[in-house]
Amino acid sequence: MNILKTIVIIGLICGLLFLAGLDVKAEKRLTKEESVAAGKALFKSKSCSHCHSLRNIKDSIGSNLLRWKNIESPMLWAAIMWNHAPKMAIALDDEAVEYPTFEDDEFANIVAYINSFTDEPGRYKCKPDENKGKFLFQYLGCAECHSIRGKGGSVGPDLAYVTETINNDYVFVGMLLSHAVVMSKTANTRKVPWPRMQGDEVAHIFAYFKSVIDENF
Ligand code: HEC
Ligand code: HEC
Repeated sequence: MNILKTIVIIGLICGLLFLAGLDVKAEKRLTKEESVAAGKALFKSKSCSHCHSLRNIKDSIGSNLLRWKNIESPMLWAAIMWNHAPKMAIALDDEAVEYPTFEDDEFANIVAYINSFTDEPGRYKCKPDENKGKFLFQYLGCAECHSIRGKGGSVGPDLAYVTETINNDYVFVGMLLSHAVVMSKTANTRKVPWPRMQGDEVAHIFAYFKSVIDENF
């Protein structure tokens, strides 16, 4: 009888754990429509709409982001926004708007919202190459401020450690862009030229971080 009870209890616990697991997954995976709706709300709550219109308003502070509506790739989005970080930094100060950070799938949802204005978001293919990433990390000057497992600059955080838990392109891009404005200001104060990036270059750099993590020091 006791054994039977134990089995029933263990069975119940397993069942509950299984359901809890399903619940977490269900919460994370949004449908396309939900993602677009979440992105629409974020575009406003993160103040993007304060400066960027998605209509043809001539006097908006930033450009009309609909010109990027066909772009789906997180890496291209990262490059576009990263390259404009110094200008955005100035506008944020002028407007006294705090620049937001992006967590989990928040950046993916914002892009899904902008993509929802077209029927055919374009695919962009590139082959991430960790060796190119390693080269770019030095060449673009990231290493002036960042270290990789203790080697390099110490102005910003060690990027092997902070990217350790990231396995999704959008989450990485969200992290990168969350700090782009502060980074561009730091670069300005330290007289480091702001490194401009192409989409495939962002992808190479992420591949490099992943390769360093995989080495398991
Ligand atoms: C205080 C104003 C301000 C806020 C808030 C702001 N931006 Fe910007 N943004 C700018 C300015 C100014 C530029 C540079 C000029 C330009 O090209 O639009 C820019 C540039 C960009 C670019 C490159 C645009 C291009 O056409 O090349 C992207 C993409 C972008 N911002 C996305 C966002 C997103 C997403 C948000 C919200 C999370 C946001 N911005 C919040 C002012 C702002
Ligand atoms: C002039 C110095 C400087 C340069 C150059 C620089 N960064 Fe940074 N970076 C910083 C600082 C400072 C922070 C922390 C910013 C903050 O607290 O918001 C940071 C934060 C980051 C983060 C977020 C880390 C975290 O803890 O969430 C990433 C990712 C990143 N940088 C990547 C890069 C890459 C890739 C390059 C080169 C293309 C680069 N950085 C170039 C100074 C720099």
